[in-house]
Amino acid sequence: MNSPIRLLIHGASGRMGQALLRLCATREDCIVVAAVARRVAQRVADGVPHFAAHELAGAPAFDVAIDFSLPDGFDGVLALCVERGAAFVSGTTGLSDAQRTALDQAAVRIPLLWAANFSIGVAVLTELVRRTAELVPEWDCDIVESHHTQKRDAPSGTAVVLAAAVDAARGRSPSIASLRAGDIVGEHLVQFTSHGERLELVHRATHRDLFAAGALRAALALKGRSPQPYRLADVLFPSR
Ligand SMILES: NC(=O)c1ccc[n+]([C@@H]2O[C@H](COP(=O)([O-])OP(=O)(O)OC[C@H]3O[C@@H](n4cnc5c(N)ncnc54)[C@H](OP(=O)(O)O)[C@@H]3O)[C@@H](O)[C@H]2O)c1
Repeated sequence: MNSPIRLLIHGASGRMGQALLRLCATREDCIVVAAVARRVAQRVADGVPHFAAHELAGAPAFDVAIDFSLPDGFDGVLALCVERGAAFVSGTTGLSDAQRTALDQAAVRIPLLWAANFSIGVAVLTELVRRTAELVPEWDCDIVESHHTQKRDAPSGTAVVLAAAVDAARGRSPSIASLRAGDIVGEHLVQFTSHGERLELVHRATHRDLFAAGALRAALALKGRSPQPYRLADVLFPSR
């Protein structure tokens, strides 16, 4: 077996960071060498060294950083990956235009993959939405996204990506409605409406572990790859 990849988990104390730490603890193909959050409560937890965001420069050598944090923590971890020549996988949403540009620039130096949604189902949904928008270009299209009340950004990054797929297919963006309620992990409904009929494409995430699994799969796929921006579809559907 190849040696395990060394991971830095950024946003380790959050909902997604915790899901990743739980997943990695069950695997032999990866080892978490650093868990980073804005603040640290414990220096070492379950054998994993923890670092505060201001200590990022002191993190040990790693192959790939997986980032699920917030936009204000994003720049530091991306810069660290570029400086160290490490791969970067991120699912942080609500990024600014400047941060999207920084991602494009970093991709010249390191392999990286940013995805608004790491589930296989949403990757399939995006393809179905694009194809439907092409097939019925004159129908109304609307997106409704629902998430838990702690989510900071709206609309969701996934809704923005789905809207871009519709726009690319027919040159017109759909409207997006955002609901924040209870503990909803993530739901995206894309509705195409005509007179007398309506087509609804919907994805419901019921557990965060699926996003963690997708992100880890991406991290394993990126190790040793050449610098460029990778798409989640390349990792999930490599034979296409
Ligand atoms: N792409 C996907 O598939 C997907 C799926 C789910 C969520 N997301 C996105 O992933 C991100 C995290 O979601 P979540 O639900 O896990 O959020 P969360 O529970 O609020 O966790 C945020 C994490 O980021 C850390 N953080 C905040 N500011 C930081 C900074 N300046 N420097 C370093 N770390 C910082 C927090 O540390 P402290 O606890 O110390 O503040 C915490 O560990 C969000 O943008 C969310 O929209 C993406």
